[in-house]
Amino acid sequence: MKNSKIITIDGPSGVGKGTLAKNLADELDWIVLDSGSLYRMVGYLSLYLDTRDFSEIREKINKEEIFFKFIDKNSNISLFLGKDDLSEFIRNEEVAKLASEFAVLPEVRDYLFNIQRGFMAKGKGLIADGRDMGTIVFPEAKHKFFITASAEERARRRENQLKELGLSVNMRILQKRIEERDNKDSSREISPLIPSEDAVVIDSSNIGIYELKDKVLKLIRS
Ligand code: DC
Repeated sequence: MKNSKIITIDGPSGVGKGTLAKNLADELDWIVLDSGSLYRMVGYLSLYLDTRDFSEIREKINKEEIFFKFIDKNSNISLFLGKDDLSEFIRNEEVAKLASEFAVLPEVRDYLFNIQRGFMAKGKGLIADGRDMGTIVFPEAKHKFFITASAEERARRRENQLKELGLSVNMRILQKRIEERDNKDSSREISPLIPSEDAVVIDSSNIGIYELKDKVLKLIRS
């Protein structure tokens, strides 16, 4: 039986998944699970605790509650570990690279799998954003989307996001890093970045965020 209270949105970085998830959450009053932030949290804690040993990182995570919150109407979603808003520490390329490295480890994926499944019980409905939401974590979801966009367009969008956070970036290096990370995410053995067989694939290169939301809502309601 398919679960009509779960929407999965998968795809590589920079395709507008996060904004789409937020717009859908506003419209439906459902909660958002930004799974990429969980992998980034692991990467960040590895830096913060100065360790590559996942059991030490897990110990720290186990002590706290994890939740997501939109701080204000126009903000991106924030990840909280206990009282701490980790958002400003996890949105950088150093943490993203570490996240991608930890993401290939089965013990990390298994641990985060359980945390992610726990989000189903937290709201009226769930919008899960990531790489393997439709294939592995929520295979029973009724509404599955896989969003793509050209590498150049994605680097441009990421550049704008980083600029908004006051970070300066070199577009060429950014595009190269995004491609490297995507290659790693698509070619890994466990939970590779591939569309679920029953997902609707949408290329967002030439469509605006509101158009994308309307398209998805129409498909959900049809
Ligand atoms: O979406 P993002 O850029 O915040 O993701 C950060 C990293 O986490 C990315 O390199 C791949 C990994 N990730 C994953 O392996 N599975 C997910 N469901 C989400 C993210």
